[in-house]
Amino acid sequence: MVKYIGVDDRKIDLFEGQFIVPEGISYNSYLIIDDKIAIMDTVDINFKDKFLYKLETALDGRKPNYLIIDHMEPDHSASILAVVEKYPDIEVVGNATTFKMLQQFFPGINVKQLVVKENDTLNLGKHNLKFIFAPMVHWPEVMMTYDEFDKCLYSADAFGKFGALDFDDPEGWACEARRYYFGIVGKYGLPVQNLFKKLADTKIEIIRPLHGPTLDSNLDYYFNLYNIWSKYEPEADAVTIAYTSVYGNTKEAALLLADNLTKDYDIFDLARDDFYEAIEGAFENKYLVLATTTYCGDIFPKMLDFLNALKERGYQNRTIAIIENGTWAPTAKKFIIDFINNNFKNITILEKTITIKSALTEANKAEIKDLAKELN
Ligand code: FEO
Repeated sequence: MVKYIGVDDRKIDLFEGQFIVPEGISYNSYLIIDDKIAIMDTVDINFKDKFLYKLETALDGRKPNYLIIDHMEPDHSASILAVVEKYPDIEVVGNATTFKMLQQFFPGINVKQLVVKENDTLNLGKHNLKFIFAPMVHWPEVMMTYDEFDKCLYSADAFGKFGALDFDDPEGWACEARRYYFGIVGKYGLPVQNLFKKLADTKIEIIRPLHGPTLDSNLDYYFNLYNIWSKYEPEADAVTIAYTSVYGNTKEAALLLADNLTKDYDIFDLARDDFYEAIEGAFENKYLVLATTTYCGDIFPKMLDFLNALKERGYQNRTIAIIENGTWAPTAKKFIIDFINNNFKNITILEKTITIKSALTEANKAEIKDLAKELN
């Protein structure tokens, strides 16, 4: 039997110190009850007491044998000490890197250790657990636990999603899972692909991630999206417009372009809209339009932040169009082209770029309509 003992966090302001989560986030933990009992990860420290209560209730008088640590990031590991203090005989299960990090987060902690290697198994009775290492999905110690009995993959951060479990997301799973993926795991496409190779012959019917809902039907849908995302392939034949605007003229250009697109598009004011929605949009769509002002001899700071965030996440395989604005010495276009050539891979830059010198001219408007035609 498997019982959910995780919690919803609706008090958090910024997840991992930077991601807005208007509908909260869940820290998932599970209890596998068999001849032996295993706890699968813990929860954020702010929910330690609630977690211990749920654990004790689910145990119904029994004692847990194992605490399995798939991921040491504190949103999952911070309550380990509390579990060990309450159940001192428990064996903590992790790999060599897990235990190194355990000592870093809890200096001097003394626990019964069960150090596992790749593909080691742990038998609980009917449930037989196998440990599959997934380094850098999202941290180096990450491992996933595959339960052969119910064909369930405990997938650590992979397949996670923003939003508390008590929130029935009207957008479905993908939108906030995509923002989570590109915000947090996006840099690590290759490790995700390596994981998929390891899992190729594993029959998976349930995925229990550390954030977001359990996935137990139509799993091909989720695997397919993760495959596209981790290969840095565009998911949609659509346009993302990312702009910055000081006095509204560059914004006017961005809006005019959007008005003339027949394709689907997303549009983001990089100074005002959620930064990670914009990152998500850049990876989701095949076309990216960058519209920005010249600033201190290069580009507006929010656009530079955006480019750097794309670079950190290995941005590639897209088509980019550029609209620049500059009153006396426009430099944004040159800066962006150099940045793309130095930092992104396999990018087509549309030859026709648009230069606005302060406000839109009729010629600019015609150029923007031509750009829309090219993108459509
Ligand atoms: Fe949900 Fe990488 O921690």
